[in-house]
Amino acid sequence: MNDLLAALYSRKSVRAYEDRAIPADAVESILRAAIEAPSAGNQQQYTILDIEDQELKERLAVLCDNQPFIAKAKLVLVFLADCRKWLRAYEFAKVEHRRPGPGDFLLACEDALIAAQSSVIAAESLGIGSCYIGDVLENREAMGELLGLKDYVVPICMLVFGYPTRQQLERIKPRRFAPKYTILKNAYRELSEEETRTMLDERNAGADPGFEAFVDAFCKRKYMSAFAAELNRSSQDYLREFWEE
Ligand SMILES: Cc1cc2nc3c(=O)[nH]c(=O)nc-3n(C[C@H](O)[C@H](O)[C@H](O)COP(=O)(O)O)c2cc1C
Repeated sequence: MNDLLAALYSRKSVRAYEDRAIPADAVESILRAAIEAPSAGNQQQYTILDIEDQELKERLAVLCDNQPFIAKAKLVLVFLADCRKWLRAYEFAKVEHRRPGPGDFLLACEDALIAAQSSVIAAESLGIGSCYIGDVLENREAMGELLGLKDYVVPICMLVFGYPTRQQLERIKPRRFAPKYTILKNAYRELSEEETRTMLDERNAGADPGFEAFVDAFCKRKYMSAFAAELNRSSQDYLREFWEE
């Protein structure tokens, strides 16, 4: 197996960091990897915020569902799906144009997320761990004020980086579903109840209280939780401007 594949297969989220800074050249390499990622029409419909200010990190830790490790990260990047960049170019050039729509927004999200994942892999190659923070989509109003966001600019993900502690290095990577449940040939089909049960049981390898109890606890903790409700409220507000007149 080559080094890149080995890194992709072994990579896991890192949420506790050694107390040492990431050198400037490593930060530059991580950011360069993001920017070299492909983007739709080479438009780069994203903007990356490099959060250097410690107070900002601490506010982000609170606004992102109270996750204190965010404030301890040595590098914090917010990836904005940015449909404003080209809108402004169209306005400045005084060409006939329109407002960004849902398709433009989804392409901007793709651009931003692909750039984000490239920075994750670059960091991994340098021995620097990372963790995505999806909760950055919550609290639109406060987030907008904190980061100076504008219409058509959506914080689609946040990444926090740092050198992993020994405990994090030794932590066992969470198992994935067997590929046959995730990779289908040619056309989509729903998994049957039996397949769904087996998929979860196999992944959990007997370490859970059984299908019903596991799914019940998971559903309560993730899907029906207060943070999920806030994520949906805030996201609906971001999305509205992309289709409402
Ligand atoms: C879109 C996205 C959002 C995530 N948000 C969070 C988060 O807010 N907090 C957190 O601790 N981990 C977050 N994660 C990390 C996942 O929990 C993690 O990737 C998953 O459990 C698999 O574990 P692994 O990355 O260690 O393999 C997020 C991951 C993704 C891809």
